[in-house]
Order: sequence, then structure tokens, then C-alpha cells
Amino acid sequence: MNTGTPSIEINEVGPRDGLQIEKTFVSTEEKIALVDALSDCGFARIEVTSFTSPKAIPALADAQEVMRGIRRHPDVIYTALVPNIRGLERAIEVGTQEMNLVMSSSETHNRANLRMTRDQSLSELTSILRAAQGTSTPCNVSLSTVFGCPFDGDVPVDDVLRLAHQLAEAGAAGITLCDTTGMAYPTQVAALCETVLRELPGLPITIHLHNTRGMALANAIAAWQTGVTRFDAAAGGLGGCPYAPGASGNVNTEELVHMFECMGVKTGVSLQPLLDIVRGLPQLVQREFSIPLLAAGHRLATHQPPAWLAEKFGPADGVHA
Ligand code: COA
Ligand code: ZN
Repeated sequence: MNTGTPSIEINEVGPRDGLQIEKTFVSTEEKIALVDALSDCGFARIEVTSFTSPKAIPALADAQEVMRGIRRHPDVIYTALVPNIRGLERAIEVGTQEMNLVMSSSETHNRANLRMTRDQSLSELTSILRAAQGTSTPCNVSLSTVFGCPFDGDVPVDDVLRLAHQLAEAGAAGITLCDTTGMAYPTQVAALCETVLRELPGLPITIHLHNTRGMALANAIAAWQTGVTRFDAAAGGLGGCPYAPGASGNVNTEELVHMFECMGVKTGVSLQPLLDIVRGLPQLVQREFSIPLLAAGHRLATHQPPAWLAEKFGPADGVHA
């Protein structure tokens, strides 16, 4: 049993999931600067970009230049999303340290997002896993829509388990359970995480949450309580899949970090430098959006009381300095 300080690992997916849906094209230099700044915040992983078709995801068409241009912090693993063999080849060419393969657990979202059936994707990913065995590059697999599909509704748990087993047998280094359009709710998250952890013991499980319906932090706690310690999150709560109707932002990294740190759970991430980056995001993506933690500050960011309190009541007794 682990009796030390509890800790989690965060995979910052803002540069990939965050930017893939933005209308404004963020320049290659700005993307590199964003990743470089995030590199100094203490993340375990940063998902830098995706090696997808530039027609499908024009916002990340400069994936190779970005991966080539970033500064590599020795403590960070630089990953990227890969949907097919062509993507693997491009990712390897520019020194991607870990692949994040992707397919959906629901048929219709897989077809809409990847223009393949689930069977075709499974066979593509199996070929990638085989090809990657010759290199020393670990390949995680993100399973989209496991908590619900915006086209097909609830996804049978058996479909998720079958895919997770097949991918693990094919050599996946880990599985990410993705709530692509924020359909998950806490008891559902706990139940699926428990089942997957039990059925695939020893396989690292990550949870990928979107805050579409305001349940992302509650879902994060539900996953953590079952023993999941790896979380995807996007700075500023950016993000969303362009091929999933109604998609909106990922769980906010800064809110996830703040929440776990309040609870005494180590995240490795320094909140202040992260908030400094988050402050610049509206300008980067050329649109305004609310960033609650930036407005409110840390929960113990207390305020100077109004001057008249001291005049009326004198110095306050029992108030900590
Ligand atoms: N990187 C760069 N180009 C790629 C590519 C890749 N990984 N895969 C395919 N292409 C190119 C092909 O070379 C071809 O180019 P051409 O038209 O100039 O000849 C074109 O894209 C079509 O190739 P095809 O194999 O027919 O792909 P497709 O059109 O059926 O699309 C995917 C399949 C998977 C490549 C595409 O749907 C995709 O990239 N989806 C990603 C969606 C995504 O990232 N969603 C959000 C994250 S969940
Ligand atoms: Zn996502």
C-alpha cells in the first residue's frame, strides 16, 4: 500500500485538444512558445499536436514544425495524437517521445471523426502498435466516447472493454478513457474506471474529461477515488472535437491543479506560472472566454477588509495574520 503523499500526473493537452477546434490559426512560433512555457510548469506529459490529415484538422497542419521546434525539458514526455500509419511516420520523423493513438468506442463518432469504421481503425491501430514495437516509442490509446456518443447515445460497457482488451493485447502502453463531449457523470465514471482497472490490472489508465455540462471536476474526483492517477486537462479549459456536435472545452488544468493541491494531492504542476500562461490564452486564440480561477485567485487569496471595519470595530481578535 502506498502510504506516502498522494500524487497524480497531468498530461497537458491544450496545445492539441485545445487548439484543434479554434477558428483562429495560431502561428507555429506561438504554438512553440506555448509548449515551451508549459514545459516549465511541471507537467508529466504535454500533448504537443496531432499528426492528423491537415484537411481534417487544419489548425494543427504545422505539427512537424512544432514538434521539431520545441525545447525539450528532460522531465516532460512530449506526446502527440496519431490516427493512422501515415501519422505515426510523421510523428517518428520529428522525435515524438510517446504516441497517443486514437479511435472511438462508438461506431458513428469513429466514422465521423476518422472516416473509418471501428474495425478499420482497430486494424490500423494494431498495425501501428506492431510497427512501433521495433522502435522504443510507447503507444497509449485514447478511446473516445466511452461515456456516451453524441450520435449513438450510451456506449455499451462491453464494447469499451472489448476494444481495451484487444488494444492492450496488441501492445498498447496504456488506455485513456475519453469523455469526448462531456456526457459522463460521476457514478458512471466510477463504475467504468473500476471495471477497467479490474479487467486490465497493471495497465496505466488515464481519464480525459470535457466540461460541457459542468461535471468535469466531479468526474475527476470520481475517477481518482477508484485509483486513477493520470489526467488529461487543457489550460484555460480550451478544447473540443470538431467532429462531435456540441463539443466544448476540456477540464481546466488550472482548476484541476488547484483542486487537487487543496486536497493535499501532489500534481507536480506550479499554479502561478500556469496562470500566467492562461492569462495570455484569449489573446492567443483571439476570442474572450471566462477563466474563473484567474478572476478569483487561489482559495486563500484573501482580501484587505474595508477601512471602515477597523474604525467601527477596532482590530479584529482571533483573525490570523
Ligand atoms: N497526416 C497527414 N496527411 C494525412 C494523414 C496524416 N496522418 N492521413 C491521411 N493524410 C492525407 C492523405 O495523404 C491524403 O492526402 P491527399 O488528398 O493530398 O492525397 C488525404 O489526407 C486523405 O487521405 P485518406 O487516407 O483518404 O484519409 P481520410 O480522408 O479518409 O481521413 C484521417 C482519415 C484519419 C486521416 C482523418 O479523418 C483525420 O485526420 N482525422 C483526425 C480527426 C481528429 O483529429 N479529431 C479530433 C481528435 S479526437
Ligand atoms: Zn478531448
